[in-house]
Amino acid sequence: MVIANQGVVSMKIKTNLIVIALSATSVMSSLVLADESNANTVSVPADLTLATDSVSSITPTVNLVEALTGFDNITNGYISQDDFNAGKARFEKRKTIGDGLGPFYNAESCADCHQGPVTGAGSQVAVIRAGRFNDGEFTPPPGGGSLITERTIDANLQVHVDDTLNVRTFRVSTNALGDGYVEAIADQTLLDIAARQAATRGAIKGQAILVPILEAPGATRVGRFGAKDQHASLLSFSGDAARNELGISNPLVATESTPNGVDGSQFDTVADPEDADSSFINGIASFMRATKAPEPDHDLANTPDAIAGEQVFDKVGCDSCHVQSITTAPTGTVLSPAFTVPEALGNKTIHPFSDFLLHDVGTNDGIVQNGGAATRNKVRTTPLWGLRTHTRLLHDGSALTLDQAIKAHSGEASQTVKKYKVLSDKDTSNLLSFLKSL
Ligand code: HEC
Ligand code: HEC
Repeated sequence: MVIANQGVVSMKIKTNLIVIALSATSVMSSLVLADESNANTVSVPADLTLATDSVSSITPTVNLVEALTGFDNITNGYISQDDFNAGKARFEKRKTIGDGLGPFYNAESCADCHQGPVTGAGSQVAVIRAGRFNDGEFTPPPGGGSLITERTIDANLQVHVDDTLNVRTFRVSTNALGDGYVEAIADQTLLDIAARQAATRGAIKGQAILVPILEAPGATRVGRFGAKDQHASLLSFSGDAARNELGISNPLVATESTPNGVDGSQFDTVADPEDADSSFINGIASFMRATKAPEPDHDLANTPDAIAGEQVFDKVGCDSCHVQSITTAPTGTVLSPAFTVPEALGNKTIHPFSDFLLHDVGTNDGIVQNGGAATRNKVRTTPLWGLRTHTRLLHDGSALTLDQAIKAHSGEASQTVKKYKVLSDKDTSNLLSFLKSL
């Protein structure tokens, strides 16, 4: 797959239903839609300026616009550049105890863990999750949350993992760039992917879970954010992370955490909710919604090796879970009482290389969050967009090379990994070239 932002020479996008071959050397171009099921092709003249929102319509019925990509700190159009800059500044600003930092926290700003190459991405920083698994049942630590925060504003409050917590794992900070588009994926689109997997004879059966939308009490959506799909809304994630990672209570998560049952209230001098007017969580959520998706390395993606490697990726079945292309819901779709798809995020084709579903691929996370007991050892298919910026692979950072990460897949991915292991050296190196371009 090749996606170029300007001076487009050629582009091939493959979805499960449509192959679009497109060559544009000037503004006028020709778009060829081929339905794989009957191999009919139609040519539609299209006025294309790729990667801008100006392509509102290709035909009256096909509104296909590529989502913006780039590590360039430029808004995707959801909010103005000034508002983007202001939201980014909130995301980066180090909180102080006077602002409400702590009493339990993991870092002083969102960007401490979400930066690389630009603010909003993931990083190497890992956090601790722990709990108990006894008599076939997972229970979180006393206090209710599985996050064991590692910093406190007073040494007497330090929290530790104790020996009764027999489930222990790390979670590496995941990417949030482009997550506005992910939020705008219709639930049904993800449910359809799950249904398609369920209809096959193989072991691959992704699970969609419904999670609460904190800002719309009573509403739920299909989870898609975080290693456990624990959230479906970037505002909900902001409220949760503000409280849990920084110790900034807010109207969505209004009281301080009590990790492993430790109560820090006597050390907390700022009244809850600390972000009383929600300006912090609204600002950071808007910033994330306005980020562009991670951009592939176009030069590498254009090499014959990477192009061949993409075919290997599909041939061995990586794309069953790492779904290349998804289209967001139409502009105006009401996602929850609190959020309607804006024009900048609606009808956009993204290339996340994920189905956003939970799978057991044998990597043993062990923690239950929003998904219920069956999700204990399941993890969301890691979106591979921006993979070239990841150093610690898998949810716990336990793999440091691509080959190691791929070979660590078992469970639902066993058949695929079996095929991977018998690839020729050339096919393997082509596949790795392709992965390194993402
Ligand atoms: C100490 C590190 C740390 C800090 C600080 C932190 N995060 Fe995260 N973040 C993580 C980790 C680890 C994950 C993924 C692991 C998981 O889901 O358990 C994550 C995941 C996310 C995701 C989900 C992205 C995706 O699609 O998977 C969002 C959104 C997010 N964080 C937003 C925030 C915001 C907003 C802040 C600031 C209020 C913040 N984070 C602060 C570590 C951190
Ligand atoms: C059954 C679904 C499934 C299949 C098939 C599958 N994966 Fe995955 N993949 C996952 C899940 C789930 C994770 C997250 C596992 C974890 O973090 O513990 C993952 C993680 C990864 C990661 C780690 C990314 C990171 O940044 O941490 C890479 C790389 C990867 N897969 C590549 C591949 C390749 C290449 C193939 C084909 C050979 C493949 N996967 C097949 C579901 C799948």
